[in-house]
Amino acid sequence: MTSLPPPSNLVHADASNFAANVTKEEAYQQVLDQAEGLFYEQRNWVCNLSNCAALLWHAFKSLPAPSNQVNWAGFYTLNHPSTTELILGPFQGKVACQTIAFGRGVCGAAAATKTTQLVPDVDAFPGHIACDGDSKSEIVVPIVVDDRVVAIIDVDCAELNGFDEVDKVWLEKLADLVGRSCDWP
Ligand code: SME
Repeated sequence: MTSLPPPSNLVHADASNFAANVTKEEAYQQVLDQAEGLFYEQRNWVCNLSNCAALLWHAFKSLPAPSNQVNWAGFYTLNHPSTTELILGPFQGKVACQTIAFGRGVCGAAAATKTTQLVPDVDAFPGHIACDGDSKSEIVVPIVVDDRVVAIIDVDCAELNGFDEVDKVWLEKLADLVGRSCDWP
């Protein structure tokens, strides 16, 4: 009987190729399926969040506007041993603020309240942190493990109303998968 190859041999860049004309739901389903495959026998959070950021970026770029106008997709993680500060994690896009206190901006609000922040117009969000003036709308989803916020998913869009309930539902599924698939510091 032949044994399975090591999981690293199963990883291929094709995982981040999305077919033309996929729906947003189909693109998110592919992100989840590919992420689950990539997480097989791999629980390192840097490794897994990095591949997730790549999957999200390419998924958004495969979709029509406004999704293809996403200009930042990635993660902030708990800045261990602090329990009240986030630090920049793996992402795709331009350089971004390095640390964010719980309660500050959209990311800090999601971390402090453990609830998704769906922001159609960042200029109307009190305390929004403008890392990039191009960002017009944003969604931030907390990753909660054993009632503790370990990280957040942050996606920015260069158009107003860049995200809707579909994004919220699927990014929350991704947050759940990522939360239980990594060893967190
Ligand atoms: N705008 C965010 C800061 C992070 S960047 O968008 C990457 C906020 O208000 O929390």
